[in-house]
Amino acid sequence: MNKKLVIANWKMNPQTLLEARKLFSTTKNTASRLKKTKVVVAPPFIFISSLAGTKSRLYLGAQNVFWETRGAFTGEISPSMLSEMGVQYVIVGHSERRAIGETDEIVSKKLKTLIREEIIPILCVGESERDNHGHYLSFLSTQIKKSLAGIQKRNIKNIIIAYEPIWAIGKTASDAMDSHKLHETVLYIRKVLSEMYGRDIAKAVSIIYGGSAEPGNVAELMKNGNVMGFLVGHASLDVKGFSEILKIVDKS
Ligand code: PGA
Repeated sequence: MNKKLVIANWKMNPQTLLEARKLFSTTKNTASRLKKTKVVVAPPFIFISSLAGTKSRLYLGAQNVFWETRGAFTGEISPSMLSEMGVQYVIVGHSERRAIGETDEIVSKKLKTLIREEIIPILCVGESERDNHGHYLSFLSTQIKKSLAGIQKRNIKNIIIAYEPIWAIGKTASDAMDSHKLHETVLYIRKVLSEMYGRDIAKAVSIIYGGSAEPGNVAELMKNGNVMGFLVGHASLDVKGFSEILKIVDKS
């Protein structure tokens, strides 16, 4: 059985290497005591090399990557540079990146490059709002199909899908998604994957949830939401709160 998975998306935080080191080492302590949960921290690029190195049960992730492998691309970071630093996971298509121009086509290129480099992509998908006519479902289906365009059947099991409804991001536990709605949405995502790749593959893909996952809601979302884990933003910067989340998920 797949392990549960919690990914800390630090976004553009913290502001100093000292703080990053403190946060990383406390998270590492908690992660080393977990039995059934894999923990990944995705810090800003600039901290990665300072946090890498020691063998630990805490895995390194990145928040972005470029789709070309080398060359004249000012300001970009290649997958092999990340690999060399020990990065094993990369978040792709986060809504905050999509908001500044990352299209489904770009997402699909990044996924292909990561697969070639044997880095696990965490593909973020999610609607900006819900309506009563189910338009958000067709939005989701199109986003998934276009983001995964050209990804072959044999590679799809290595991609993690993070369902992150944009309306639930950066709020509090009470604004996050209701676990039953999450369950329905996860089933819908599997239906879309099944249309693309067949039922067995669709069942095997790991789906996690992101959007105000906090100590107060992760147990319920885990129990009734049908997800394997979480992509945690703001709560991953709070040392105590994040340790609590990890322990709850591990026990769930
Ligand atoms: P949040 O962020 O936990 O602060 O809502 C999640 C994310 O954007 O990945």
